[in-house]
Amino acid sequence: MLSLVWAFALFSSTAFMSTRALNIQNDDPLIYYHGRWDHSPGTWWASSGFKINVRNLRSLALNLGNHTTQPLASAGVSFAYGAFNTVNVSAGLNAIPLDELGLEDGAHGEATTVVRINVEGWQNNRINLESIVLNEDAELVPYIPSDLVFQFIGDSLSAGQYLPDGVDQAWPFLVGETYKAEHRINAQPGAALTDILSYGNVHGVSYEYFRTEDTGYYYTTDHNYTTPWDFARDVPAATHLVIHIGANDASQNITNAEFVQVYTDFIVRLRTIYPVQPIFVFTPWGWPNPTGPNSYYYQGQYQIIVDNQHAKGDRNVFLVNTTGWVSYEDVFPDNQHPTVAGHQKIAQKFQAWLENWGLKPRASWPTPA
Ligand SMILES: *[C@@H]1O[C@H](CO)[C@@H](O)[C@H](O)[C@H]1NC(C)=O
Ligand SMILES: *[C@@H]1O[C@H](CO)[C@@H](O)[C@H](O)[C@H]1NC(C)=O
Ligand SMILES: *[C@@H]1O[C@H](CO)[C@@H](O)[C@H](O)[C@H]1NC(C)=O
Ligand SMILES: *[C@@H]1O[C@H](CO)[C@@H](O)[C@H](O)[C@H]1NC(C)=O
Ligand SMILES: *[C@@H]1O[C@H](CO)[C@@H](O)[C@H](O)[C@H]1NC(C)=O
Repeated sequence: MLSLVWAFALFSSTAFMSTRALNIQNDDPLIYYHGRWDHSPGTWWASSGFKINVRNLRSLALNLGNHTTQPLASAGVSFAYGAFNTVNVSAGLNAIPLDELGLEDGAHGEATTVVRINVEGWQNNRINLESIVLNEDAELVPYIPSDLVFQFIGDSLSAGQYLPDGVDQAWPFLVGETYKAEHRINAQPGAALTDILSYGNVHGVSYEYFRTEDTGYYYTTDHNYTTPWDFARDVPAATHLVIHIGANDASQNITNAEFVQVYTDFIVRLRTIYPVQPIFVFTPWGWPNPTGPNSYYYQGQYQIIVDNQHAKGDRNVFLVNTTGWVSYEDVFPDNQHPTVAGHQKIAQKFQAWLENWGLKPRASWPTPA
């Protein structure tokens, strides 16, 4: 699985000059993959990525294949559970500047360092991982995932559209970080829940959620098809589901009755994968206006969806009333989507809601930094 390669000629970083490197192939079982990866293996959906735990980390590069977005994909990189910083990567060898990203060369010495990397964009988000290249005397050790696993499902309001660092600054990602949880985010800007064409999305989230690829597949030439997602690959399985959707159904004039039916059918299908996990159903926070109240959609309908589940005996579905969480100062004036600070506010509001519900952040990550 591990092989030594001569890589000195390929690196621009002086740290790699004249040194042998440790080449970790993409099928190494010590790479902890999360989110949606196709078999190339390549990412789809903002936030998909991988985590590794490295002893004696002194240099790092990603060797990416030609299914990587051209000219680049933006990736968030975090060391030792620190902040995520953007590194733009392309097909070929990409040196990750450890010192520039806050990890001094050898700072961790013989200790281990958790490295987390994910794609940030809801589009141009494909990295095709061939291998991870480390300093020769580094060693991969197991990354133990958190036992708390959030699955977020949504649209642009969850995907971090319009944020400089994309999903890495969006409220679902922030909640996952605060809770020291694994987090999977399947959020498609412009998509309705209903399986209809909406703002360039050829399918709705009620279809696409069960596929490996996000809508972008339709606009690519090298992978213009979707494949079923094998939920057995989500390890560990999600422990909590959070759904915030409906804005685009409303824009496409899906009626109240249709929306309730589609959402109810979606929950029924989710229950075949997640039989008992709590499902948190967000009401919309609405579209803020410069003056006057927010514009709401499907008012009262989310309550009906939750009530329907309760009537069937499924008590583990909860309405999260987000009314009042977002006002005009929290959004970009030209598109009414939350700003960086707006997403932070939403994350704090939801954390307060969850704590009141009974879920507290984990005190520590199971894998030490
Ligand atoms: C992409 O990479 C594969 C595997 O390395 C190679 O067989 C194929 O020719 C490449 N395709 C292009 C268009 O470069
Ligand atoms: C990454 O690429 C984007 C798009 O070209 C650019 O706006 C951004 O500044 C780049 N970020 C970094 C850290 O290089
Ligand atoms: C992908 O395939 C569909 C037909 O299934 C076609 O309409 C579309 O133009 C294709 N996209 C690209 C980028 O070739
Ligand atoms: C939705 O309905 C409004 C009001 O009737 C109409 O102006 C708009 O074009 C409709 N939009 C779609 C996508 O059908
Ligand atoms: C949500 O909260 C708002 C403001 O507190 C309240 O007016 C509304 O009735 C609540 N909606 C539901 C469904 O509980």
